[in-house]
Amino acid sequence: MAGVSRRQFLVVAGAGAAGLTASACTGPSTPRPVGPSSAAVGQAEARRRRPGAATRAVALVAGPATLDLAGTRVTTWAYNQTVPGPTVRLRAGEVLRAELSNRLPEPTTIHWHGVALRNDMDGVPDMTQPPVPPGGRFTYQFTAPDAGTFFFHPHVGLQLDRGLYAALLVDDPAEPGAYDREAVVVLDDWTDGIGPSPEQLQAQLARQGGMMGGGMGPGTSRALGGTGGQLDYPAYLLNGRPPTDPPTIRAKPGQRLRLRVINAAAETAFRLALGGHRLTVTHTDGTPVRPVTVDALVLGMGERYDALVDLGDGAAPLAAVAEGKRGQALAVVRTGAGPTPAADAWPAELDRRLLDLADLQADPSVALPSRPVDRRHRVVLSGGMMDARWTINGRTADDAVPLTVRQGERVRLLFANQSMMFHPMHLHGHSFQVRGASGTGNGPRKDTVIVRPMEQLAVDLATDNPGQWMLHCHNLYHQQAGMMTTLSYVT
Ligand code: C2O
Ligand code: CU
Repeated sequence: MAGVSRRQFLVVAGAGAAGLTASACTGPSTPRPVGPSSAAVGQAEARRRRPGAATRAVALVAGPATLDLAGTRVTTWAYNQTVPGPTVRLRAGEVLRAELSNRLPEPTTIHWHGVALRNDMDGVPDMTQPPVPPGGRFTYQFTAPDAGTFFFHPHVGLQLDRGLYAALLVDDPAEPGAYDREAVVVLDDWTDGIGPSPEQLQAQLARQGGMMGGGMGPGTSRALGGTGGQLDYPAYLLNGRPPTDPPTIRAKPGQRLRLRVINAAAETAFRLALGGHRLTVTHTDGTPVRPVTVDALVLGMGERYDALVDLGDGAAPLAAVAEGKRGQALAVVRTGAGPTPAADAWPAELDRRLLDLADLQADPSVALPSRPVDRRHRVVLSGGMMDARWTINGRTADDAVPLTVRQGERVRLLFANQSMMFHPMHLHGHSFQVRGASGTGNGPRKDTVIVRPMEQLAVDLATDNPGQWMLHCHNLYHQQAGMMTTLSYVT
């Protein structure tokens, strides 16, 4: 489908396969895209469904909401009037039925980030569904096949940089659950109501163009290999609260706490540490890894990490500092008496042993079986130099050339970052296995991976989920400035 834009795709797909083969300009060997509601998508869904699996119903209303930021009331957009929105939880193999009502003044959709779901429920406007108009409704219904920490958010415009996001937790009925308590930690960079609007930020970036793209952002980060970003936000939130009014996670001394950390920010990576404690990383992007114990970890936008902590006695700062920027988010983990940590608490662990992607190996239960690669796609990331555009293989989303694959293949994506900024690259509908620069690594299964400036990184995936899937940078402003393409199943 080279040359077919996203907007044209629904029209083409809607014409049906027969219409395509019959058309004069497509020869017998021309690959045909597998449409979001094709038979293959239904068959893949049928394979996921477990007999007798329950259906979990949830009503989600996207609309205006008020948020109290340590006494400053701001107006924003949120799900069910809370930031983050309500946590949605089900078991692996169950069906989620989510009724979305759109009370926003603009069209919206919901994307279920990280879930290997059926293509027509993926929430990409003009590609997998028509956007839901103001006042409209849409029912998302799909099997959630894999356990893990996920989240959901709109896939329209700059809506993610408001309060429209929430955790999606899928439990494994067979997981041992070797912990006493659990805390979901959702991180965000916040400007709505206290700084420029997301639209103003986007306009500012367009004016600055390449000037700010070349490593001249607010600060630099060794972990990110350059600038932390182009925007300093007036606040950073943890579970919707600023560090001057931090949420408290309560537990008892000696208990084991499972943290499920989600970076829902638009333009900010976070470095996370818990004062006086080490973190044993057990999962990334929902999938298990061989456990690694570190002092701190960095999450790019769209990434999730789960970690276990053996708790001491007292009140410890869980600090999430905006990596390469100024400011931080905070929670208090309280197991006993002690003063509440200051809003700018900087635990020493932040500067100790930092998790590196190369530390992580997939748990054997999720490692891809070894098999030769059938197809390779180079994914060159560039932009930010001469203008404010960000591109994949030299093109912006509007005229992207889809990366074609066929069902049943082993596909390697070779990310090559030729820009001076990091890009958390996210693939819809799949989790890939990180193979590192060498292409031989046994890294973690992930759906979002940071590619540092001038870095090359190979990831492999099994093409087992037919349809049309976005591949994009999860920096919302890069995505909006063009850094998005399609992994397109064809027959
Ligand atoms: Cu969370 Cu296409 O993104
Ligand atoms: Cu990017």
